[in-house]
Amino acid sequence: MTAGVARAGAGPAAGPGEVLRLESVRKTFGGQVVLRDVGLAVPEHSVTALIGASGSGKSTLMRCVNLLERIDDGAIFLDGEEITDPRADEDAVRRRIGVVFQSYNLFPHMTVLDNITLAPRRVHRAGRAEAEARALELLERLGLAAKAKEYPDRLSGGQQQRVAIVRALAAGPRLLLLDEITAALDPVLVGEVLSVVRDLKEQGMTMVISTHEMGFAREVADQVCFLDDGVVLEQGPPEQVFGDPQEERTRRFLSRVVASGRLQG
Ligand SMILES: Nc1ncnc2c1ncn2[C@@H]1O[C@H](COP(=O)(O)OP(=O)(O)OP(=O)(O)O)[C@@H](O)[C@H]1O
Ligand SMILES: [Mg+2]
Repeated sequence: MTAGVARAGAGPAAGPGEVLRLESVRKTFGGQVVLRDVGLAVPEHSVTALIGASGSGKSTLMRCVNLLERIDDGAIFLDGEEITDPRADEDAVRRRIGVVFQSYNLFPHMTVLDNITLAPRRVHRAGRAEAEARALELLERLGLAAKAKEYPDRLSGGQQQRVAIVRALAAGPRLLLLDEITAALDPVLVGEVLSVVRDLKEQGMTMVISTHEMGFAREVADQVCFLDDGVVLEQGPPEQVFGDPQEERTRRFLSRVVASGRLQG
């Protein structure tokens, strides 16, 4: 067993106020092992950044947490409850997890407001007035109140991505998963979406983000997890993982990132 694998798997001991916990999670697609032995603990009000090469399993990990993929082995806990237990109520679990992906996935034929209130009204059975009041309050907070009645194609990419974030927040989730939410945006729009994430952090939202924006991960994350070959090879505060990586493979990954100019910020 390598040092890296020893640190993976079960992860640190469960602490109070832990929102998410992965224990020895294994996920394969056909014969390919994507997550081998992943352990991760996400404390309440903290931001965890998943970094790693393309194909290292960041999106897969998030899809497993949101139960879009079924894990082959191990366990995932949300607020101490095992959500990968076959008896868990998947819809109830998803209601507690907000997800935003790289592509905003807004419905083009619905206004911003209807996009946001669709799930609260259908899934959470909130009344229209209540759902719209909450949506407008969130839009206001993200500087989008004027866009409530617009259709998505009349919005910039950054605005659409912020609407997708509002939509994920509309149900009042316990945990927010943000998967490469700036990858499709040009640099100016990246800034406005990242400042929303900063605000959410200040408000105490617990988040897991995957990003290739290392400067941002360094700034916003409380812990950084480097995924490599199916395990969390290295994890720690950003100063340590970026400033003094312990594993050769982390160092190699980061030097490639520096070479591509993505570690500033
Ligand atoms: N539904 C699927 N069926 C088969 N293989 C899949 C599926 N989803 C992901 N994979 C494979 O799992 C591996 C991990 O993919 P994943 O999308 O999780 O990587 P990632 O770290 O998010 O990469 P990126 O940085 O490019 O977004 C890849 O080899 C991918 O081809
Ligand atoms: Mg991905």
